[in-house]
Amino acid sequence: MASKTLDGIKSIENFQIEDKRLFLRLDLNVPMNEDLTIADDTRIRAAMPTIKYAIEKGAKIIIASHFGRPKGVEEKYSLEPVAKYLSEKLNKEIMLVEEPRGHAARALLSGLKPSQIIMLENLRFDPGEEKNDREFAQSMAGQTDIYINDAFGASHRAHASIVAMPGLVDKKGIGFLMRKEIEMLDTIRFTPQAPFLTILGGAKVSDKIEVIEVLMDKVDTMIIGGAMAYTFLAAQKIQTGKSLVEKDKISFAADLLKRAEMRRKRILVPIDHRITQDIKDTEGSKICDGAAIPDGWLGVDIGPKTAELYAKEIARAKTIFWNGPMGVFETEAFSAGTFKVARAIAENEKAISVVGGGDSAAAAEASGQAEKFTHISTGGGASLEFLQGEKLPGIEALRPPKRSEKNIEDGGML
Ligand code: 3PG
Repeated sequence: MASKTLDGIKSIENFQIEDKRLFLRLDLNVPMNEDLTIADDTRIRAAMPTIKYAIEKGAKIIIASHFGRPKGVEEKYSLEPVAKYLSEKLNKEIMLVEEPRGHAARALLSGLKPSQIIMLENLRFDPGEEKNDREFAQSMAGQTDIYINDAFGASHRAHASIVAMPGLVDKKGIGFLMRKEIEMLDTIRFTPQAPFLTILGGAKVSDKIEVIEVLMDKVDTMIIGGAMAYTFLAAQKIQTGKSLVEKDKISFAADLLKRAEMRRKRILVPIDHRITQDIKDTEGSKICDGAAIPDGWLGVDIGPKTAELYAKEIARAKTIFWNGPMGVFETEAFSAGTFKVARAIAENEKAISVVGGGDSAAAAEASGQAEKFTHISTGGGASLEFLQGEKLPGIEALRPPKRSEKNIEDGGML
């Protein structure tokens, strides 16, 4: 699959990595349980093809990632459980290096043997990481022969291991996950096959305005669910009870509905709902058989008629992009709409189906249908920014310098 975005960017397979110090920037920022065990290993599994390839080819492997948003060194954000988990999965020893800048780390790195792995401790423990600090980047680049970024989920961050570091290493490129992410999202952006259906859900319209604007040009039909649907209902002057409505986004929603109609595009909003009087009250919830939600009640999921209507649309689509759940799917009593949508996508085997990370990836996993989607992105914020057409700094940092820039770098010599 050709990708516009990847023009000129090298991949791990373009390098001779045997016996070379290979720096793998991964996104191992996985959700954790309270007892510090891994709650969802999707990102670790997604990174496996690149890690296994590097082992098979005999590279000396340095794995690096951020983890959470620590303020300085905080034990609960240590990558230790992740290193242990990965080590068990690979059946291979992985040593965790505490201070990547330190003397001990340098000694360890220089003694690394082919197919051995070390993991650097959470990069965000060093203040240089988030500041895109050149010195911090240099401390890692100095121990690196080849730099590979396979951390799609973090490539929208201009941080030292993502931007400054590849600027300091000659041989740089992407891993297999990054390639798959970009190729799939490029398909959605540039070459979706009609009918192209976008399913948007989640809490807020405001989080999705840019992506809605971009996708609006390409889609045939847009399905709206989740709490953001209530803002669209309010825009049609339909009663929403005490559901979450973003008052300052009602006029945007009204304008979008008007623009869609003028351009013969369809935006579908719920025609029935599951409602409750309190989000914690699952037993007292009921189906509201119509779009209007009575006073004192709030919507927590799309209703069965809406789910049926949406499933029919999904069945006839050739390209599907899904971002955001249809209701409060984490609560079983409010999960039916989201899971029906997930099942319908899984059953449409002729369509290319892409799920934009974050909550919708978790919903796809929880529905038990994840294997049947064409692609589930490991990037939450990164996949939305990418689809909005923004250039991700982590991808741009891997492009070879343009000829004119190269001449300047080389002192103006051709
Ligand atoms: C994510 O979880 O979306 C990525 O790992 C990036 O994390 P951040 O939002 O903390 O930069």
